[in-house]
Amino acid sequence: MIGIFDSGIGGLSVLAAIARSLPTADLTYLADTAHVPYGPRSDAFIQGRVLAIGHHLAEQDCGLIVVACNTATAAAVQMLRAALPHIPVVGVEPGVKPAAKASRSRRIAVLATESTARSERLARLIRDHADGVDVLVEPCPGWATRVESRDLQTPEFVAEVRLKMQRLLDAGADQLVLGCTHYSFLTPLLAPLVAGRAQLVDVAEAVARQAQRLAGASAQGQGRLLLQATARPEQLHASLAGLGLGWLAERCRGEELLARV
Ligand code: DGL
Repeated sequence: MIGIFDSGIGGLSVLAAIARSLPTADLTYLADTAHVPYGPRSDAFIQGRVLAIGHHLAEQDCGLIVVACNTATAAAVQMLRAALPHIPVVGVEPGVKPAAKASRSRRIAVLATESTARSERLARLIRDHADGVDVLVEPCPGWATRVESRDLQTPEFVAEVRLKMQRLLDAGADQLVLGCTHYSFLTPLLAPLVAGRAQLVDVAEAVARQAQRLAGASAQGQGRLLLQATARPEQLHASLAGLGLGWLAERCRGEELLARV
C-alpha cells in the first residue's frame, strides 16, 4: 500500500495523479484535518505531526510514503526519512526548476504558505535551480483554508487573488509556481487571470512519476483507496465530487477512517 498525506484536501491533487499513474496500487490518503492549516504553524509543530503520521502509515504497512504537502516537506521530510529508513519517502517541492527553465522573462513567482515561503529548503531550491532567474516568493496566508472550506467565490477573496496576480504579472513573472498542493484547486480561478501572460506550474504529475519509480511491490494491489482523516473523515469522501475527483470515489473501499494520530 502507498500512504499519501497532507494537512487537508490539498494533497488530493497529488493522490489523483498517483491513482492515474498506478492504477493497481492500493492507496491510502490521510488528511490531518484536526490540524489544518500547517502554513501558520511552527516548524516544531509540523515536524511532530509529520513524524506521528509517518509512523501511523508505516504501521498500516505502507511500503512508500508520499508527503503530499510542500509545507510538511520543507519542515520535516529529512526527519521523516531518518525516522523511517526502511521506507522510501517522496516529498513535494515547489516547481522552481521547471519554472526557471521555462521562463523567458527570467522572472518567476512562487506562491506558497507562510511556512514554506520562509523555509531554508525553498531558499536552497532557489539557489540550486534558479541561477540567473529572479524569484519572487509570495506567501499566500489563508488560501489553503479557503480551499478547505471551498470558499473560493467570495468577492474579497477573488479581489485579493486578482490583485496578487496582477502585481506579479506587472512585475514580469511569466511562470507562477503553485507551491502548495491546495493551490491546484485554485487553478479555475487563477488560470483565466494569467492567461496569455504566465503559466501555472504544478508538480503533481512529476511527483506521481517519482512515486511510480519508487513504488516497487507497492504498485501491485487491487487499485483500492482508503480515505482517513484526523477529524471529520466523512467530509473527505464528500469533497471528491466538488473537486472534480468523483472518479476516485470508485476506488474507495468501505468507510472513511478516523485516524487517531
Ligand atoms: N497543502 C499544503 C502545502 O502543500 C499545506 C497547506 C496548509 O496546511 O497550510 O503546503
